[in-house]
Amino acid sequence: MSNSSFDIFVPGRVCLFGEHSDWAGAFRRFNPNILPGQVIITGTNQGIFARVRPLPDVFKLKSTLPDGTVQEQTIPMRQADLLAVAKEGGFFSYAAGVAYHLASFHKTGGLEIDNYKTTMPVKKGLSSSAAFCVLVARAFNLAYDLKMNVRGEMEAAYQGEILTPSRCGRMDQGCAYGQGPVMMTFDGDQMDAVPLNVAKPLHFLIADLKGQKDTVRILADLTKAYPEANNEQARQVHEYLGKINQQLVKKAVQLLKAGDAAELGKLMTEAQAEFDKHLMPACPTELTAPKLHAILQDAKVKELTYGGKGIGSQGDGCVQFVAKSMDARDKLTQYLTNEIKLDCFPLDILPAKTVRKAIIPAAGLGTRMFPATKAVKKELFPVVTPDGRCKPILQTIVEEAVEAGAEEIAIIVRPDDEKTIANFFAPVEPSYFARLPEWAQEECRHLETLGKKITFIRQTEQLGFGHAVYCARQWTDNEPVLLMLGDHLYKSNTEKNSATQLIEAFNQCGGHAIVSLYPAPGNMVHHYGTATGNWANPEHTIIKLTEFAEKPTLEYARAHLALDNFPPDQFLCVYGQYVLTPELFEILGRQIANNVRQKGEFQLTTALDELRATDGMYGYIVDGEHLDTGQPAEYLLSMNHFSQKNV
Ligand code: UTP
Repeated sequence: MSNSSFDIFVPGRVCLFGEHSDWAGAFRRFNPNILPGQVIITGTNQGIFARVRPLPDVFKLKSTLPDGTVQEQTIPMRQADLLAVAKEGGFFSYAAGVAYHLASFHKTGGLEIDNYKTTMPVKKGLSSSAAFCVLVARAFNLAYDLKMNVRGEMEAAYQGEILTPSRCGRMDQGCAYGQGPVMMTFDGDQMDAVPLNVAKPLHFLIADLKGQKDTVRILADLTKAYPEANNEQARQVHEYLGKINQQLVKKAVQLLKAGDAAELGKLMTEAQAEFDKHLMPACPTELTAPKLHAILQDAKVKELTYGGKGIGSQGDGCVQFVAKSMDARDKLTQYLTNEIKLDCFPLDILPAKTVRKAIIPAAGLGTRMFPATKAVKKELFPVVTPDGRCKPILQTIVEEAVEAGAEEIAIIVRPDDEKTIANFFAPVEPSYFARLPEWAQEECRHLETLGKKITFIRQTEQLGFGHAVYCARQWTDNEPVLLMLGDHLYKSNTEKNSATQLIEAFNQCGGHAIVSLYPAPGNMVHHYGTATGNWANPEHTIIKLTEFAEKPTLEYARAHLALDNFPPDQFLCVYGQYVLTPELFEILGRQIANNVRQKGEFQLTTALDELRATDGMYGYIVDGEHLDTGQPAEYLLSMNHFSQKNV
């Protein structure tokens, strides 16, 4: 248990696309012909701020609402008391429900939560209650080191909230992912969430229509169509929440990733038209929504936005627009606030922070370097650097990742190797340290600094490169990650190292995964993964991949892998550095579950090729050389070559 206090911020959430399909997808338990529900939500700029402190045996709560009013309650940290408060349905019932749930499954003490600031409007369809539940789950998780990931916090928040009289959907806890957009899939009881990165900033405006909306009525009318569609109207509801919704969401994912505000706005308008056509007849009293439709048709609104739609269950609750620019949004805010008398909230979706995590797999058996690898892991073989130092290969790779901006590094290890590698990055004995020359003492401090960034993840069975990468799935926490082979050296031809070049290229590719490539002569392709595609930038450094071939023959490469405007018999081979996205880990997980192996091992290339086909993927032609150290002859050449200074 940590004794110090800490701060937490949880935003509200807005549903951009797919409302109602979450509960519809849950009906797949009773009717497998229904399609899974899909929604895209995003965290709001506004949210709940709290300071948290562990306490021995009470749950002490204080909340300051947007209007300045303060609520307080202290509950004994006992299951019976927490459950009673949850069931009563009072102001802190959600918090008590989550605390009850956590106290039932974990060993926790009490907590003080001071929600000192709330910038999110309450009861406006932004899921303030779910945000509070996520906040409580996260507070316990961090204070008592419960080791829950984001999904675990969402589940605890949901289980806590359903203990109260309030009813929330499974989508509401999506605010746990923070401010970026997340695509969620609902298939019976199963929920999946994949965060999306946008390439360019998108500016939305949300306005409270100050009209009538009866969510209970909307849900009662729409759920009449489930689980079986027994009449034409019900079939229309199924059609929209199933097939049409999936098409809309698929398109929206692409547009969000590309940061295409204009097309996204158009898609919102299209989604509203489809919603009206298929769902409005099932609940005309609520869904006719005159205020919503009047504002969507307003000439001034049309001039300043690319399009818009209702929010949540719809009706005359809130409306959302994609603004043409920040400036257009300011003008729209003034117009709606002053002339139509609506309350407005800005919403920005910004590109995720660039890559800040790196994975280095170092758990292979290294059979090609036997028997040296019986004595020392190949990732720890020494190499002489251009400035005359002798270091393990792994150190140079960690240094390259850190130089490229990696704040956290996961090294995949065999359990027996963890101690050896951890020791290398740990402080040396004081007596040993004292006998080292000054430059070596400096090196010790440097290694310690690197060590603080490193996490070890165990691969208990050597099931292949793809499997090793998959071991880091939880650790990535759905962020894009840099992957670097643990038995390669990388030598850049420019000031920027190879990993930095790759990350910069990734930042230009709309959040799609990207792999570093280098031009190789035709007689080499049968050793390496080889790719082809279409040039994606005028400089001809980035390609949109159209095919990945694992160690192709020269004949195959000539027939299928040649590039336009590229020297004859030159092909693009895999360099050993990648930026991987959450979608890739999903695919790897599926392939491992389905036992999709090549030569007995789970390979990364198989998953990359599926990602390329389903989601799109890019290749970056690095200005540098990769040097293989995993085979004897290559090791010798690489050692010599790496130690030479660039001229
Ligand atoms: P290799 O393809 O070189 O395989 O791994 P390997 O098992 O290490 O070596 P050989 O083929 O037996 O000689 C590429 C990278 O993936 C890691 C390796 O440590 C290397 O950094 N790897 C490979 C794992 O971490 N786990 C595995 O199961 C396989």
